[in-house]
Amino acid sequence: MIPLLDLKREWREIEAEVKESWERIFASMKLFNGDNLINFEKEMADYLGCSYVFGVGSGTDALLLSLVACGIGPGDEVILHANAFVADVEAVKWAGATPLLIDVKEDFSLDLSQVEKVITPKTKAMLVVHMYGHPLNMDEILEVCEKYDLILIEDASHAHGAEYKGKKIGTFGKVGAFSCGVVKNLNALGDAGFVATNDSEVAYKLNYLRVHGQVKKNDHHFYGFNSRLDEIQAAVLRIKLKRLDEKNEIRRRIAEKYTEAFLGVSGLIPPPLDDGNKKSVYHRYVVRTDKREELQSFLKDKGIGTGIYYPIPLHLQRAWKEAGYPEYRLPVSEKLSKEILAIPLFPEMREEEIQYVIESVKQFFGA
Ligand SMILES: Cc1ncc(COP(=O)(O)O)c(C=O)c1O
Repeated sequence: MIPLLDLKREWREIEAEVKESWERIFASMKLFNGDNLINFEKEMADYLGCSYVFGVGSGTDALLLSLVACGIGPGDEVILHANAFVADVEAVKWAGATPLLIDVKEDFSLDLSQVEKVITPKTKAMLVVHMYGHPLNMDEILEVCEKYDLILIEDASHAHGAEYKGKKIGTFGKVGAFSCGVVKNLNALGDAGFVATNDSEVAYKLNYLRVHGQVKKNDHHFYGFNSRLDEIQAAVLRIKLKRLDEKNEIRRRIAEKYTEAFLGVSGLIPPPLDDGNKKSVYHRYVVRTDKREELQSFLKDKGIGTGIYYPIPLHLQRAWKEAGYPEYRLPVSEKLSKEILAIPLFPEMREEEIQYVIESVKQFFGA
């Protein structure tokens, strides 16, 4: 069996170090706002090359707090793309704003030519997701945001450590929101997330939004949320952050092997290659084929796990309709949702497993 992701292998590598740091936490019973949170935020800000990082309870919270901290709320519209995750549209909804969806291109990136079609005077922000760890073309995105005076929020949940022109993904927008959920490249052992920003006003808001707007003990300056990154998870993230670059490098090497083997296989489209400006971190290795279901079940029979991210685009989810949002036809997102399949790619994969995945995929296509 080769699972899509095997968390047990990484755990074995870090178990002793994590348990040691947990021992220290439990000895002090300082479970929140301790050294681990403070140091994680510093270390992550250094790593990203940004001014401020704030730990929060999850990636979903990171998105919601980002929107609220940027002053986005009722009466505002936010543009996002239809192949994003449901948390992206939920954050817009619970911030009180209205989502406007645009389609994507075949390389999974948002189709910026569609911005003009949906934008109105109420449109205040654009929320972009670096799908599967592939950096978006930030020059183009920043140009559009400048042209239409839109606040840019990046969802970098798939893209810890990814770069565009040598700059870390998640630091281009007013805020970068990151999930550190258990399957992410930088993953806690439970729910966790953080936000990154260079804007001091937004930073002030974010810092207190996560603790009920409490600026001093019992002194609440605005209404916020309860969304903290606890010491137990912050300790795990500090340990894993030290290894993130090395792990991402291994992901890139596995992806290279896959892509080299799959280029030229008729009926199979490998994910986009990095151009000279981009450094992907392959959170997922997503191939495309019009025989997706058949490939998935063939691989299952071979003992290979796969996943679909995401099989139903945002505008075709029942929740979208229930929320009273309008009907859209977004042909590329709809087509991709039927073709995409993630195959196993995680840093602890063994060489024989990588080769077995390659052989099995090629065998399916008769290559
Ligand atoms: C792109 C993206 N954004 C946001 C989230 C939400 O993160 P969390 O599960 O930590 O709330 C996820 C989770 O899978 C995600 O993939």
